[in-house]
Amino acid sequence: MSQVSSARPRIAVAGASGRVGAALVGSLAADPVDLVALTRKPDPARFPAAVMQRAVDFETPATLAAALDGADRLFLAQGTSPRQVENEIALIDAAVAAGVKHIVKLSALGTPLQVHPFDWHARIEAHLVTRDIGFTLLRPTTFIDFLGRSGRVIADGNWGGAAGHGIVNLIDTRDVADSARAVLLDPDSTGWQRAFHLTGPRAWSMPQIAAELSRLLGRQVDYHQRSAAEQRDYLIASGLNEFGAGVLVGLDRVFRESALQEETATVRLLTGHAPRTLTDWLTENLALFR
Ligand SMILES: NC(=O)c1ccc[n+]([C@@H]2O[C@H](COP(=O)([O-])OP(=O)(O)OC[C@H]3O[C@@H](n4cnc5c(N)ncnc54)[C@H](OP(=O)(O)O)[C@@H]3O)[C@@H](O)[C@H]2O)c1
Repeated sequence: MSQVSSARPRIAVAGASGRVGAALVGSLAADPVDLVALTRKPDPARFPAAVMQRAVDFETPATLAAALDGADRLFLAQGTSPRQVENEIALIDAAVAAGVKHIVKLSALGTPLQVHPFDWHARIEAHLVTRDIGFTLLRPTTFIDFLGRSGRVIADGNWGGAAGHGIVNLIDTRDVADSARAVLLDPDSTGWQRAFHLTGPRAWSMPQIAAELSRLLGRQVDYHQRSAAEQRDYLIASGLNEFGAGVLVGLDRVFRESALQEETATVRLLTGHAPRTLTDWLTENLALFR
């Protein structure tokens, strides 16, 4: 894709400290753009020195206009939250009012499945497409690093869930960030109203991932098959709240149905490089599973 060549666009990044947002800010910081990180907790230690920071709380509408003042483009992400629909819609409306020309929204592959957060993304997307603004919907499949959150459980031999033998094509968050960067820097993308499905290079079942981990660790790793009710009880007993357990059990259903098995060439199309592999990510993060 072509790159920005002359005037320095101002890019605001919402969710700048998040898993995708932090990688995006880290790479855009070296690009010829004015970069503004939107965060609830501005702190010089959190972002590269060249990055401006503005305090924003999506739940406090009064903070939005000032945060977006002067921005040409907005990357929009928020961590999964029951307030996500209202918050992202408020930010979209504030961006339109502030004269932002293009929004790159982090959505999710699987939208509009009737499972949280996929249905929330469907509602946010439906709102965005009614507004008079350029947009790019990035719909990545599940991030590989969700496996890292199970690192301790995997190390202890208790890994399992209700995903059965369904397959899912996981993606490295760095590939999502690289794709967002490519769109944000492309001067031709301003007027786009497009959606991209972002995936890794192949789909895996949870037992196949267990076998790959076994190979890399040199010891047996199992994925214990549970029913949805058993998995919910297990998660609640391990300290998760109802909301969190509901999201994870819903995700297992999506995996079991292989609803995210799609394999696309979109990461390569946007970034010029192949998507990173699951094996490479596991190898880099093997200490999490020991
Ligand atoms: N996880 C996956 O596998 C996956 C897959 C596909 C799509 N997605 C989507 O990707 C998006 C990001 O998810 P994530 O879990 O990766 O996020 P995350 O890393 O947890 O990032 C959350 C970000 O949201 C910001 N934030 C949260 N509440 C905020 C508020 N009230 N006001 C301002 N900022 C707020 C935080 O910024 P500060 O703390 O700095 O304020 C933080 O940077 C979600 O919409 C999710 O559905 C996730």
